[in-house]
Amino acid sequence: MPQARVTLSRALEGFRRSGIREMMDLAATLDGVLHLELGEPDFPTPHHIVEAVQGVLEPGMVKYTLSRGDPGLRALLAEKLRRANGIAAGADDVVVTIGGTGAIAAAMIALVDAGDGVLVPDLGWPSNEMIAGLLGARILPYRLLPESGFEPDLDHVETLAREARVIVVNSPSNPTGAVFSRATSERLLELARRYDLTVISDEVYEDLVFDGEHVSLGALDDDGRVVSVYSFSKAYAMTGFRIGYLTANSTVVEAVVKVQEAIVACPPWVGQRAAEAALTGPQSVLADMRDAYKRRRDLAVELLERHGLAIARPRGTFYVLARVDAPGSDTYAFARRLLLEERVAVAPGQTFGSAGSGLVRLSLASPPEAISEGIERLARMAIRQAHRT
Ligand SMILES: Cc1ncc(COP(=O)(O)O)c(C=O)c1O
Repeated sequence: MPQARVTLSRALEGFRRSGIREMMDLAATLDGVLHLELGEPDFPTPHHIVEAVQGVLEPGMVKYTLSRGDPGLRALLAEKLRRANGIAAGADDVVVTIGGTGAIAAAMIALVDAGDGVLVPDLGWPSNEMIAGLLGARILPYRLLPESGFEPDLDHVETLAREARVIVVNSPSNPTGAVFSRATSERLLELARRYDLTVISDEVYEDLVFDGEHVSLGALDDDGRVVSVYSFSKAYAMTGFRIGYLTANSTVVEAVVKVQEAIVACPPWVGQRAAEAALTGPQSVLADMRDAYKRRRDLAVELLERHGLAIARPRGTFYVLARVDAPGSDTYAFARRLLLEERVAVAPGQTFGSAGSGLVRLSLASPPEAISEGIERLARMAIRQAHRT
């Protein structure tokens, strides 16, 4: 391909892609890799969901839908939001999106101008920063408290809040596995009210809680400042169907619909059929997969503790952090070495923020044998790293 001199957007200067996907790309060039890098359930999408989609696929059926998603699916989602989340939503208060990623991206585009401050958790999902960065926002990472189960440091949030317009909150949290208490959720909302912040509450792991309860910020929101984001990807093992959704006050909802229409037209038809089948079919699949992840969490924590690499017991999600090197050390280099020398793919801690130095994240959305063998090899590598051999 000839290489004309093309000037790229300034937003891409210094843009760092997700370290999770960097490792995935490198792993794809190697054989025999144990995959613990990606948050992709190893379980197949439940049969009844796939069968329902196959049953309605006819030539000429797969079309565009309304920009905001199909009315029937939105009605089902509103009912779920009322029942499971305590959010008083109707069908018109819901936008079906391209995964949780599409929901967060559309919400940020709708809410953020270049130069606006966006508070993101450090440690947090890398795409928050990537999306805010593409918009030219000022990224304001806020600390978490490892000694309090990685709940947010509310004093630090308060210090930064004056400069911010939006705060991203994520519980259950990737990569820490934290599940915020009700008291923390209430105090976060109080701060948002005091500093007039809009809250993007990323709840895509709501169904993956092992200890404690999931509190939806939207249920505590009495002045309409929370944008609540959900997804079918993780809990229903439906990553490839690319369906998520959000609910917010009507001004935000209408703005998000305009943004979505501009950039992707509408969510995918096939994914929306699958989401309907997921909502109307047996919900026992959620508990079955959650219980399996919980057993894997217990296994991983026990092995990490045995090797002196554990730092916390995740209360939710399917991730666990491991300390593999001293704070301040570059775990991109560690993760690359682990992959090349031990054929184990993990996510480097720093892709989740500066607090991730010395850490790696393991995904427990992989079979137990891969988890135990992966941790054995990780421990071997950590010893070599400690001796710089
Ligand atoms: C914290 C968090 N939010 C949102 C997402 C988006 O997932 P999806 O776009 O598949 O719904 C992910 C995926 O890894 C995530 O970890």
